Amino acid sequence: MIQIKDFEEYKAMYAKSVSSPGQFWDEVASSFYWQKKYDNVLNWEFDSPTVKWFEGAKVNITENCIDRHLEKRADQTALLFEPNEPSDTAQSITYSALSKQVNKLANGLKKLGAKKGDRICLYMPMSPELAYAVLACARIGAIHSVVFAGFSSKSLADRINDASCKLLLTADGFYRGKKYIDLKTISDEALKQTPSIENVLVLKHSGKPISFDAHRDVWYHSLVETQSDQCPAEPMDAEDELFILYTSGSTGKPKGVVHTTAGYMVYAEYSFRNVFQYREGDIYWCTADIGWITGHSYIIYGPLLAGATTLMFEGTPTYPDAGRFWEVVDKYKVNIFYTAPTAIRALQAKGLEFVQKHNLSSLRVLGSVGEPINEEAWQWYHTHIGKGNCALVDTWWQTETGGIMISPLAGITKEKPTFATYPLPGIQPVLVDAQGEEIIGNDVEGNLCVKFPWPSMLRTTWGDHKRCKEVYFSAYKDKYFTGDGCKRDQNGMYRITGRVDDVINVSGHRIGTAEVENAINAHDKVVESAVVGYPHDIKGQGIYAYVIANAQVENPESFAAEIRAHITTEIGALAKPDKIQVVAGLPKTRSGKIMRRILRKVAEGVTDNLGDTSTLLDPTVVESIIDSRALVS
Ligand code: WTA
Repeated sequence: MIQIKDFEEYKAMYAKSVSSPGQFWDEVASSFYWQKKYDNVLNWEFDSPTVKWFEGAKVNITENCIDRHLEKRADQTALLFEPNEPSDTAQSITYSALSKQVNKLANGLKKLGAKKGDRICLYMPMSPELAYAVLACARIGAIHSVVFAGFSSKSLADRINDASCKLLLTADGFYRGKKYIDLKTISDEALKQTPSIENVLVLKHSGKPISFDAHRDVWYHSLVETQSDQCPAEPMDAEDELFILYTSGSTGKPKGVVHTTAGYMVYAEYSFRNVFQYREGDIYWCTADIGWITGHSYIIYGPLLAGATTLMFEGTPTYPDAGRFWEVVDKYKVNIFYTAPTAIRALQAKGLEFVQKHNLSSLRVLGSVGEPINEEAWQWYHTHIGKGNCALVDTWWQTETGGIMISPLAGITKEKPTFATYPLPGIQPVLVDAQGEEIIGNDVEGNLCVKFPWPSMLRTTWGDHKRCKEVYFSAYKDKYFTGDGCKRDQNGMYRITGRVDDVINVSGHRIGTAEVENAINAHDKVVESAVVGYPHDIKGQGIYAYVIANAQVENPESFAAEIRAHITTEIGALAKPDKIQVVAGLPKTRSGKIMRRILRKVAEGVTDNLGDTSTLLDPTVVESIIDSRALVS
């Protein structure tokens, strides 16, 4: 696999990737194990959109993640598992053990009737079995749909139904910090409305008692125990679906982003090795959850494809105290550490005493992902965690891009705090203006698009190709639109400034304002609501909800508590508004559109210079919203 060694090489590779993309990607792809080699590197047009990479190939990603490593690395640790509770047993799983576990589960899934193309929903704790499950699905060609184990039963049911999943894998429950998440009870509630589910495979994880439906539910361990540890890898076409991952957008309904087999595989290893400058024997730790794209690409697929040792952590940064990350870094002598700005800011706020107790000298590369990293957090991370001598890579990418798109290459690219710097070879970002024209030159700002396909780009949104076209390929002709605003400095370095659509990025999690509004509006005491993001010291952005109630609200605090509890059951705790303001009306244009620009300003605390309000149906609404700010709970 191509691994760039210095900046000169980066520049040469970049130039080649633009002038001869077919040849460039052919070289990158040559290090994989193909059951049958591809006939074409790329076929594409963005109009429909149709993008096909490595057509004609037969390949299985798990042979590349596991089997091809067995000769050399059977006894090397593939997966390290650090539990939530420091005193619980940690696990170390070799490539050979991983192979057995994945094959046994793959055979178990087949026994339950799963086959190529079936959708399987994984709603599981951050346990090694979740990694086995992801890989077991890929082994047999079933499409995995991982749902983050913090979503509510309703969100789970919606995702299961959207993809008509046949099986659900879940667990009794797990602790996140001190909080117990009762996965089986939440699943049972969801399963009341998911007719496509035939069986539920239940992992015994916490050991707490659960209800068990003997006709439908199967214990994970009893199924897997009796299976053979050999399972042939399903021959997959390059463009066969590998997984679906739901993500929020501008409309109320999350969309199932679809990634396919060969392109995703090639890009996952390529980006992992080059961005982090992985070295043989490194211990690599990404603190994300497998419920998000970062966990898919950079806990499981990328590192395993590279034959690395990847650490999975079940807990939180602040349990049992704010030194947990650093304790784990020292315990495993982690070399590459990848986390989110929100975690950095939260730990920074707890004070240096939690850092200073630890050595951290094993660290060589630090990474950041999920949201713009502010200068202060960047400097703190660099100085106090990296001790000033680690590379720091600020990696910009998205669920839809499948892998890291714009980022320094660790130790190679000159860093600039808050800048994701330069695109990886193969990635062609462009900035466009309001008229859709490409902005040429440097020291400019615009909306970020990509004008040429890359192997791990989304291919469609599950069950609704039209929506994929509308959301990503229609705003600007012949370009993929990211939804992000971006600056390019005088040296051509990119700095992502944040979303330009109605998506809020809360602690690195994407939440659609329309989704939260729909949920609030479904409450029987609510007439209407409008949700906006506002700057939040730790979370990056917080959720601010303006709510019109259908009767006089006597006690705003208990009303807000009711709304929050309602959101927790409708979506999940991650979408709970930080601030709720009861209002009498919302600023609307004559055509009935809510003027969010004004609501965003008020949420930020701006009460004058609100811009042009003359197109409002009733400009006095704005005054009353400003006056009622005292009622925020
Ligand atoms: C934001 C997470 C600035 C961005 C991998 C993007 C970032 C959205 C960065 C995708 C970064 C991610 N700097 N902003 N380094 N990384 N973002 O799909 O707004 O959960 O569009 O993928 O997060 O979030 P998603």
